[in-house]
Amino acid sequence: MKVTVITISDRAAKGIYEDLSGPTIEKIIKESITDAEISRIIVPDEKDEILKALHEADSADFILTTGGTGLAQRDITPEICEEYCDNSLPGISEILRSESYKETPHAMLSRGYAGIKGKTVVVNFPGSVKAVTLCTKILLPIMGHAIKMINNEGH
Ligand code: MTE
Repeated sequence: MKVTVITISDRAAKGIYEDLSGPTIEKIIKESITDAEISRIIVPDEKDEILKALHEADSADFILTTGGTGLAQRDITPEICEEYCDNSLPGISEILRSESYKETPHAMLSRGYAGIKGKTVVVNFPGSVKAVTLCTKILLPIMGHAIKMINNEGH
């Protein structure tokens, strides 16, 4: 399984703070899916750079983004990913939000999107380590099945 993790954050891209969420996603996936090939990239909250990273990851089975899903003026991750995708996968974002709400009411403030581009599933996670820890664990059990379905390999 090929997974690209895109951290979308102005401050992480500038090195003002260390990206802890991208490595957390990678660690959790590797613990469960031992043959996962994971690559990571950090980009600022800039449309062109986000789109470029998405296009460059087009051979991945999953693109998982972290950050830029909130209410700040520069939080544009969901809109760009929706524009990039062919179809939406609302079940994923609904469950991520509803399970996250059990952790914090702030989960309502994440506008994270999930969709499909070609044969790649794109999922937005919020930016915090706490959020990606929960969201990655929620996503893990369906990742293999989603890939089978997307490749018409049935159930
Ligand atoms: N989801 C989980 N599971 N845990 C969290 O701590 N933080 C929330 C929310 N979702 C959070 C969460 C907060 S504080 C915000 S502002 C939104 O995600 C958006 O975060 P982002 O702007 O970093 O994407």
